[in-house]
Amino acid sequence: MNPILYFLRDIRKTGAVAPSSRYLANDMVRFLRKKTACNAAPLRILELGPGTGTLTKAICSAMRPEDRLDMVEINPHFCRMLRRKFKQPGIRVIYGDLLEFDPDAPYDYVFSSIPYESIPESVTSLMWKKKLSLCKPNGLISYYKYVNFNFFRCKFEKELVRDYCIDKTLVFRNLPPAQLFTLRVRQPETSNMHGSGMEFKMNVPKKAVIKRVGKNSAKSSNSKAALSA
Ligand SMILES: C[S@@+](CC[C@H](N)C(=O)[O-])C[C@H]1O[C@@H](n2cnc3c(N)ncnc32)[C@H](O)[C@@H]1O
Repeated sequence: MNPILYFLRDIRKTGAVAPSSRYLANDMVRFLRKKTACNAAPLRILELGPGTGTLTKAICSAMRPEDRLDMVEINPHFCRMLRRKFKQPGIRVIYGDLLEFDPDAPYDYVFSSIPYESIPESVTSLMWKKKLSLCKPNGLISYYKYVNFNFFRCKFEKELVRDYCIDKTLVFRNLPPAQLFTLRVRQPETSNMHGSGMEFKMNVPKKAVIKRVGKNSAKSSNSKAALSA
């Protein structure tokens, strides 16, 4: 099926009317390109909500052979599509809910396309705490929000952007236009988050398990419930 039809059919779950434009995708990977151009160490990259893979394609074009990319996607149709499209070594598609993802090590760079617009504020906060825990200290998180009047519904997210944002870019050539944010996750000691009642864990649990979400567990997870609400 045409990827746009998937988006339209499942609009509440995907949170978008269409995949991201190549302009948005190329802007999203600007900092990754800079990092791969000057950083000799191999990078661990994570993409949350890759959908049909528009952003994935841009990430792959910025990656070096020694870098690794994991993707976490809750929609099984998209997972099958992604596995067919991206067969290079070092790339993994993990079917499941971001909130249940439990990798064995944190990431240097996290890309996220999770549609917060359609998720309750409490679940959005949980997702942000999870994302912070998946990121290495000083790691980067790039994500976008569609431009609308109710821009930051989640206070936790708003404060993170205020404290950690290193770049904001408005991308008009996307449907709908989007604001792209890149955050640098500072060490907990220097973070304003602490002492403000917004504690988060920087260390990923030692358990080296990536959970595959089955039908039942996905149904019972908070975000899935919220997405289908
Ligand atoms: C707005 S679409 C973005 C797709 C693609 N990255 C793009 O930019 O075109 C959001 C994607 O996030 C996925 N998603 C939503 N909630 C999720 C969750 N809790 N865990 C993993 N993926 C999720 C949806 O299935 C969808 O593919």
